[in-house]
Amino acid sequence: MQASAIAHPNVALIKYWGKRDTGQNLPATGSLSLTLEGLQTRTRVSFDPALQADQVSVNGAADAKAAGGVVRCLDQLRAIAGSRDFARVDSENDFPTGAGLASSASGYAALVRAASAALGIVGHEAELANIARQGSGSAPRSLYDGIVLLENIDDGIACRSVCAPEDWPLSVLVAVTSRAPKSVGSTAGMERSRLTSPCYRGWLETHPADLQTALECVARRDFDRLAKVSEHSCLKMHALAMSSQPALVYWNAATMAAMQVVRDLQASGVPVFFTIDAGPQLKAVCLPEAVPGVKAALAACPGVLELIECTLGRGAREIAQ
Ligand code: PMV
Repeated sequence: MQASAIAHPNVALIKYWGKRDTGQNLPATGSLSLTLEGLQTRTRVSFDPALQADQVSVNGAADAKAAGGVVRCLDQLRAIAGSRDFARVDSENDFPTGAGLASSASGYAALVRAASAALGIVGHEAELANIARQGSGSAPRSLYDGIVLLENIDDGIACRSVCAPEDWPLSVLVAVTSRAPKSVGSTAGMERSRLTSPCYRGWLETHPADLQTALECVARRDFDRLAKVSEHSCLKMHALAMSSQPALVYWNAATMAAMQVVRDLQASGVPVFFTIDAGPQLKAVCLPEAVPGVKAALAACPGVLELIECTLGRGAREIAQ
């Protein structure tokens, strides 16, 4: 009745920002992401008939904020397994939590992997993805390897790997510019954009073409075109955020400085592009041969506190206790 799993966060190239059903936590659009080996969540779940309620700790401290979503996921897994036992959940991140590095994605992916293994659930992959997305819309992507597509289907989402890590070994350098938790989380932020940004309609109208283009680029390993459409999706998402009322500005001065570093590298022919989620960290995606140069340039950028080197990684998986 106990199991452990590890999962990596993911970063979207074609972003998700806005929900089509807030109560069900269903995204308005699909998305395309990279699973990031180099950052890791490790979660242990123990079901215990003696417990009176589920207990959730994140990085060694009880976490009441995470508990609601975790209990919802556990309830659905218990229903599949026919179990009524409560669980103790202990989750540790080896990177800043809640700071725009997708700790909720890796957290929920590790949770459903560990909890389903502890309950002896075999198969049910599509259900696991739909359970994970109720905790965090981007979490199903962390269940899968390499480059991952999340699509809307009638009553939920479907998620799958479209390129294994070894088939296109991209590198990602995460430039950490602040370790503080973000002031407006992505759920509240994207709801604000849906309700108040004049750009929201245009976002929905143009998103399917961006996703299609990016999928073609992955199939052809066309880095330059993937760079263009990914930066476009990122900047469009931040245009939505910035044009919300009240405005959501997730960047700081160092985010902008790091973006300029990437643009200067591009101008000198280096295969690199940037993407930024709902936080101030910049992720530089590059071909492996560009890593040393990109690393040196970002390390010299004022305000960059730390660089974390990632590669494309595997989806969430059970590990020995
Ligand atoms: O899954 P959430 O609720 O943390 O939202 C993720 C939102 C972005 O990271 C900004 C975009 C994305 O597609 O990952």
